[in-house]
Formats: sequence, structure tokens, C-alpha cells
Amino acid sequence: MSNVENGVLSAPSDCKTVIVTSCKGGVGKSTVTANLAYSLALRGKRVLVVDCDFSNRSLDLIFGCEDSVLYDLCDVVYGRCDIEKAVIKDERAADKLFFCAAPMEAEEDFSSEQLNSVLLDAKERFSPDYILIDTPGAVSETVELVAPLADMALIIVSHQPTAARAAERTGITLDKLGVKNQRLVVNAFDSEAVLSGLRTGINELIDITHTRLIGIIPYEYELSLSQEFGKLCGEVDNKNMKRIAKAFDNVAARLCGENRPLLKKVYSDKKRRELLER
Ligand SMILES: Nc1ncnc2c1ncn2[C@@H]1O[C@H](COP(=O)(O)OP(=O)(O)O)[C@@H](O)[C@H]1O
Ligand SMILES: [Mg+2]
Repeated sequence: MSNVENGVLSAPSDCKTVIVTSCKGGVGKSTVTANLAYSLALRGKRVLVVDCDFSNRSLDLIFGCEDSVLYDLCDVVYGRCDIEKAVIKDERAADKLFFCAAPMEAEEDFSSEQLNSVLLDAKERFSPDYILIDTPGAVSETVELVAPLADMALIIVSHQPTAARAAERTGITLDKLGVKNQRLVVNAFDSEAVLSGLRTGINELIDITHTRLIGIIPYEYELSLSQEFGKLCGEVDNKNMKRIAKAFDNVAARLCGENRPLLKKVYSDKKRRELLER
């Protein structure tokens, strides 16, 4: 069992556990979780993705592996199967990307300690460099459940005032739960609307949310379309999707501690890169 110090469950490992969260649904948490995991894996990192959205499981569809899910996280927590049986290896990323699905419906409550012992087991079996935990889009018990296990949180904000307010509230909640290391990912960023003065720029989003920025993912219609076929950005061979894959790679690089410009190779024109200054 783990040590519980100051409410934080500590594990003897270099693995970083990152929760991907916002108290608002539809801002792109699951999209960012899946595509960031893939980008990290393409960089050679071992990544385990755990779907903790117990109210609305979706990562199996986003990864396109819904037919392969036989067991889920609850089966492991309740001892109905071994972690190896519930973890699916994603063949797209040469032994680097692993995924454990959420149950269709969480049957009972379980504790952070129970979840932590599953993650400790997963760390031993799969040696991940990162565990990415996807969470539901509401102020929920799930966030309280996973917060004690998190080394950091990625707060996802889409390019809307409602999402920015939700991101601010999420930061405050996480703070109270002891997750001090928080970074902001601006998703579905609409550069056209900023250039035409219709939407707020990045600096204003940072001001509202009071959170340090780690990445910007542009809005891309083709992303949501190819998601319906279980495709991740990096595997779709077209210009727009390659640009989005680059944006995810920038976030992955920054998460790994690299000093990478936020929009490197995302916008070719200077005008759009200068959007950051607004
Ligand atoms: N950068 C983006 N550009 C275009 N559509 C996006 C982007 N990010 C997410 N979406 C779409 O928005 C919807 C909600 O995304 P999802 O990841 O399920 O949000 P959440 O997990 O926060 O509820 C999905 O249909 C997804 O395809
Ligand atoms: Mg989701």
C-alpha cells in the first residue's frame, strides 16, 4: 500500500501522474488526453491513459478500440481481473501507449487508496513515464478521488468565456484538493476570431483563469470528424491534421520540460503567431 503524507499518496516511481480536467464538459478533455498521450508516445515516452470519466466513457471510441475493451478499471479495482487484462496496448505507438477504459457505469464508490494500489500495480507492470487520467466534465467526486494521486493537472479551456470561468473554478477546486502544479491548455483556439476582434486573445484567457499556459490547440473541424473514426491527429495524412498534431507535439515537448515555443510550426504566418501578444 502507498504512503499517505499530507493527503498525497506517494509512490516510489519517476512516473508522473497527470490529471486532465475542467469542471465543464465539451471543452476537449478527452480529445487532449488521447492526442497528447499519442504525442508523448511518439516522443518515446511510455504512457498509460486511464479513463476516469465514469459518467460518460468516451476514450475507447476516441482511440478507436471499443471492440477490444473486455475489462475496465472497476474490474481491476474490485479484483475481477488483473491489470494486464484491462489494459489495451495501442499498436500505433510501438509498445509505448497503453489504455485502461472506464466502466460503462461505476457500480460502487471506491477510494483514492484503492485506485492508487491499481496504479502502483500498473506502474510495476508497464513502467509508464506518464499516467494521464481523463476526468468527467463536472465538479464531481471523481476529481476528489484522483486529485490525491496527481503530480500535476492540465486544465483544459476552450475558447469561450464560459469555459474560461469554469477553468478558473477548476483551478480553485484543485488548489483546495492540494494539486498546486496546474497548467492551462487552450483548446479549439479560434485564431480567425481573435484577428477579427470577435474573441479574446490568449493573454485574456490566462488572466481569467490565473493559470500558467502550457499549450494551444487550434480549432480544427477535421479533428472532430476523424475522431468519429477512432483516428488520432498524428495518423491522419493531411495538412490540417498535421498542424494539429504539431500543436500536440508542442504540448508534449513542454510537458517533458523542453523549452519549445507554444505555436512552433502550427501557424506559418507571422500575423497568427503574434496572436500570443494580444
Ligand atoms: N481542437 C478541436 N477542434 C475541433 N473540435 C474539437 C477540438 N477539441 C475537441 N473537439 C470536439 O469537441 C467535442 C468535445 O470534445 P471532448 O474531448 O469529448 O470534450 P470533453 O472530454 O471535455 O467533454 C468533440 O466532438 C471533439 O471532437
Ligand atoms: Mg470527456
